[in-house]
Amino acid sequence: MFIKRKEKSQAAPAPEQESNGHAPVMGAVAQAAAYPVRRLATPGPRARALLARDAQVVSQAHGRPYPLVVAEGRGAQLTDVDGNRYIDFIAGIAVNATGHAHPRVVAAVQQQAAAFLHVSADFYHEPWVQLAERLNSIRPFAEPARSFMCNSGTEAVEAALKLARYHSKRENFIGFLGGFHGRTTGALSFTSSRTVQRRGFAMMPGVTHIPYPDAYRPVLAAQPGDADYGDTVVNYLEQVIFARQVAPDTVAGILVESIQGEGGYIVPPASFFPRLRQLCDRHGILLICDEVQSGVGRTGKWWAIQHSGVEPDIVACAKGIASGVPLGVMLARASVSTWPPSAHGNTYGGNPLACAAALATLDLVEECGLQNAHDTGAFIMERLRQMQTRHTCIGDVRGRGLMIGVDFVEDARTHKPAAALAERVEHLAFEHGLLLLTCGASTVRMAPPLLITRPEVEEGLAIFEHVVGLAAGELG
Ligand SMILES: Cc1ncc(COP(=O)(O)O)c(C=O)c1O
Repeated sequence: MFIKRKEKSQAAPAPEQESNGHAPVMGAVAQAAAYPVRRLATPGPRARALLARDAQVVSQAHGRPYPLVVAEGRGAQLTDVDGNRYIDFIAGIAVNATGHAHPRVVAAVQQQAAAFLHVSADFYHEPWVQLAERLNSIRPFAEPARSFMCNSGTEAVEAALKLARYHSKRENFIGFLGGFHGRTTGALSFTSSRTVQRRGFAMMPGVTHIPYPDAYRPVLAAQPGDADYGDTVVNYLEQVIFARQVAPDTVAGILVESIQGEGGYIVPPASFFPRLRQLCDRHGILLICDEVQSGVGRTGKWWAIQHSGVEPDIVACAKGIASGVPLGVMLARASVSTWPPSAHGNTYGGNPLACAAALATLDLVEECGLQNAHDTGAFIMERLRQMQTRHTCIGDVRGRGLMIGVDFVEDARTHKPAAALAERVEHLAFEHGLLLLTCGASTVRMAPPLLITRPEVEEGLAIFEHVVGLAAGELG
């Protein structure tokens, strides 16, 4: 199958090619005239050699969906060690917000590295304060924000849980089935997207899970008068859980993903967050939004919760904030951030390299990432909905901005998940030069860099439709 693409000359690249700040990737111009969707010889010999070495020494706890061995990345494209080129629709799990090796992020990191690499969180430095000021300026609540910096999403969640308990002087929490919040013990006690992540590990007490408002596959029966399935879930929390199991005045916080990520890229119905906020206000419970995957512009707004008009009390953030340099942040309303010095801390908090990368990332997201996430996200959703009319195995297309899920079904009427098909699409996409990841029961997610260009999107979607056809033919 051949997909015609617009001619581009090397001397005068098309504007959309320039818009991510990169020179064209090796091989990209040569392929511009007509892009063949074809199977790559992957993993090639160099990749196989590295996989063999990895198998001897790297912990097998890391689950890998397919054998991608990266040599280099530019923008939304990666090259493997055997020279195969891939369009990256997953961006290191929604991390490479500005794409791979954006020149401005690289320059910021290099400049900071040449100045100093680390002083420990015991001391002060400008990039740390600057980043906290910048985060304060984009906070998703009216009150000023205090930020606590760490190294990952799970640590940002741990900080949120500890602060919620400290501030409220309460022990209990509400979490959501299908949620993913990380793998350290506190965060893991909320994570419930796959049992393999929990089996064999003791959990933190005090966490009660309720269903996430997944209107495509609801598990609770709607009651007369419910506005939507979000309303149904909050009523269940109030009328069943709070009435029979956990007294609301013992609940420190509700930890919830603004869009559920690993659980299937599920966007909650409109009533959900406003009702949840009301419930929290009524009982003095903190609303803690996990924006580790959905935050920092991914949905076309700085924070996905902003689509609902609701203000959280605490936000956990990581992934996209520093374009791949490890950084987690817990942002809290100043009036909630009541803990004293040394109540929480770490060695690397406010790491100068991570702060420099984050400041460059936030500038780029503001300059063009937010708009591109909105516009390109709408374009991809529209194209996927057209594909849905041609492929009955696509049951649902959902998401916001560049956080998009394609849900594969065995039966379009019952929404029975087609897990094997989703996995086959993921694998065939890799073999044809497109990086995707599955999530939830049978969803393939797309979370490309926020600065992805339109030609890269076109190429990725062409490969996607081709492999959906192949997978459906094999398994359908
Ligand atoms: C919503 C959410 N929260 C928390 C985490 C944990 O982040 P990390 O892997 O950086 O610890 C993830 C990771 O996928 C996530 O998607």
